[in-house]
Amino acid sequence: MAPASPPPRIMAVFLVVSLLAMSASSQLTTDFYYHSCPKVFQAIMPVVRSAIQKEARMGASLLRLFFHDCFVNGCDGSLLLDDTPTFTGEKNAAPNQNSVRGFNVIDQIKAAVERECPGIVSCADVLAITARDSVHLLGGPYWDVKLGRRDARTASQAAANNSIPPPTSNLNQLISFFQNVGLSARDMVALSGSHTIGQARCTNFRARVYNETNVDASFAQTRKNICPRPNGVGDNNLAPLDQQTPSFFDNNYYKNLLQKKGLLHSDQQLYNGGSTDSLVKTYGNSQSTFVNDFVNGMIKMGDIRPLTGSNGEVRKNCRRVN
Ligand code: HEM
Ligand SMILES: *[C@@H]1O[C@H](CO)[C@@H](O)[C@H](O)[C@H]1NC(C)=O
Ligand SMILES: *[C@@H]1O[C@H](CO)[C@@H](O)[C@H](O)[C@H]1NC(C)=O
Repeated sequence: MAPASPPPRIMAVFLVVSLLAMSASSQLTTDFYYHSCPKVFQAIMPVVRSAIQKEARMGASLLRLFFHDCFVNGCDGSLLLDDTPTFTGEKNAAPNQNSVRGFNVIDQIKAAVERECPGIVSCADVLAITARDSVHLLGGPYWDVKLGRRDARTASQAAANNSIPPPTSNLNQLISFFQNVGLSARDMVALSGSHTIGQARCTNFRARVYNETNVDASFAQTRKNICPRPNGVGDNNLAPLDQQTPSFFDNNYYKNLLQKKGLLHSDQQLYNGGSTDSLVKTYGNSQSTFVNDFVNGMIKMGDIRPLTGSNGEVRKNCRRVN
């Protein structure tokens, strides 16, 4: 007797449910390169380590690349494409120009991966693994990165201008930038903990330290000392986002906010009498709650609209389409 096949209606329901599940969690998996490039992690980590040994800030810069890639039409490596006379990419978009950095390190990492398994690992996945390794090498958590993203063949400067939150944002604006990519207010607060490492330019904190009232006075003074008041003077002078441990991934970012020592206007918005105050207190008091939510947030951010299957391509050189 032939086995009975399920009634068509049940099959249809099953198909719809599977499709929904696929789109919700994407088709990314932690073992995507298990057979095709088993040594991908061993190829990447030493390059990240030596870049950070040369310059601790590079770990922060590499983490930020993943954020600026994922928020603009998904985690698809589009940020890495160079401008050409006939192509405008994202590198010179307002949030990126004179600000995002680390592209040479990404090139070195990609070259190491290509030597190990040519044509297999996407630039989008390189960014995801590199961001995780950077956090971990600076003393933060380790987690299994979901993989299987493919690289975009296009980029959008307009989307980069419009999708990445500027440091002038207020709390509601920050929440909606994250909501636009499917991330919650809690994810937003947890991922902002990335500002426990790295630096910002005077142009991005001048108005805050000279003009705002929800700022610790002596903190503001030390920042004014390296950031002259006139617009255009010393715009690129740098200050650490976390004044306490700028090269160590911890929860000091939130402790700073509790003392009105957030460097960016947007930072202090998370603790300014609004709906996220209690979460800032929680993270400031509990490194483990922060780390747990941060890792969840990174995994969710990495799931934003990936290209999978036969969409996109695996770029050979992250700076240009094949
Ligand atoms: C919540 C909204 C956010 C805003 C408004 C924001 C804004 C900024 C700004 C203005 C800078 C300094 C750039 C410069 O002066 O050149 C910066 C640096 C940085 N951001 Fe954010 N950011 C946000 C969220 C995030 C997220 C979600 C991550 C990572 C998951 C992140 C990671 C970093 C890192 C690591 C740096 C330091 C980079 C370096 O030193 O090269 N940021 N951010
Ligand atoms: C993006 O912003 C930059 C800098 O403000 C501007 O020069 C450029 O024209 C904008 N690009 C698009 C496509 O809107
Ligand atoms: C501070 O605010 C005043 C008055 O609104 C403005 O003229 C000045 O440019 C601001 N200064 C900075 C550094 O943003």
